[in-house]
Amino acid sequence: MLRGSTGIIGVVNFITFLVSIPILGGGIWLSARANNTDCLRFLQWPIIIIGVTIMVISLMGFAGACYRISWLLRLYLFAMFFVIAALLGFIVFAFAVTDRGHGQVIMNREFLEYQLSDYSGWLKDRVSEPGYWSKISACLRDAGACKGMARYVRDPTTGMLVPEPANRFYGRHLSPIQSGCCKPPTSCGFTYVNETLWTAGGVTAVPDPDCGRWSNNQQQLCYECGSCKAGVLASIRHSWRKASVINIVVLIILVIVYIIACAAFRNSKRIDNDEPFGVNRMTKARPSRLHF
Ligand SMILES: *[C@@H]1O[C@H](CO)[C@@H](O)[C@H](O)[C@H]1NC(C)=O
Repeated sequence: MLRGSTGIIGVVNFITFLVSIPILGGGIWLSARANNTDCLRFLQWPIIIIGVTIMVISLMGFAGACYRISWLLRLYLFAMFFVIAALLGFIVFAFAVTDRGHGQVIMNREFLEYQLSDYSGWLKDRVSEPGYWSKISACLRDAGACKGMARYVRDPTTGMLVPEPANRFYGRHLSPIQSGCCKPPTSCGFTYVNETLWTAGGVTAVPDPDCGRWSNNQQQLCYECGSCKAGVLASIRHSWRKASVINIVVLIILVIVYIIACAAFRNSKRIDNDEPFGVNRMTKARPSRLHF
């Protein structure tokens, strides 16, 4: 059944169909596994949508090539063009809105500090919008984003479990959300009791409004801090950059498939038109089918 140019389209689409399975599986796996501290789970949706779209389109191309249905192949090439354009747009968008901002390295700390003033642009405005922020911070709180930070050591004299000492805490790597939302900024000079309990006081080098926003109330912590918003932005940036790598690979595969499919489709039309009348007579009655 697979012959000549439509055969190539069929084979190429069978390959893209196979490629779409791991993409879709990966997206579903990511969203199922997304740890509950991640209030940005919606970011996994683009991967699932891309996977489903590629699957549907490659099935379309495969069916079109297999049964030599000309209109289906045309629709396939048309849809493919839009998917490539949309994917390109999405990649550019993801880079454009996450172009600025990163954590700051500070002395004697392994974790990075996050400051809202380091971020700018559309995404920052969206995340800082009071209505939107109240949703994100409520989600972080309900998901217990800071609960997972607790680490205990056994006190050698009493044998009881006590919070990890300050020097061990300072040597930890924290996620942007843990660093921004679960502890006061280091510049406040607060004294560590446990990960989410700090006593105020000490020397503040540069007064930071976040120091006043910090609360030892375990439902409050630094969820209203600028550093928390910055941590969320850093987290979005990280996942969008990761998604962009996948998108760029998919884009390259799709462009190659598109070029091959386009060339094969044109070729099949040419052969179609070159066919002697006698051979082609049967097909004239069924114009919707490609013929060789
Ligand atoms: C720190 O101590 C407070 C008060 O005892 C407690 O409620 C909180 O859960 C502790 N934080 C962590 C991360 O263990």
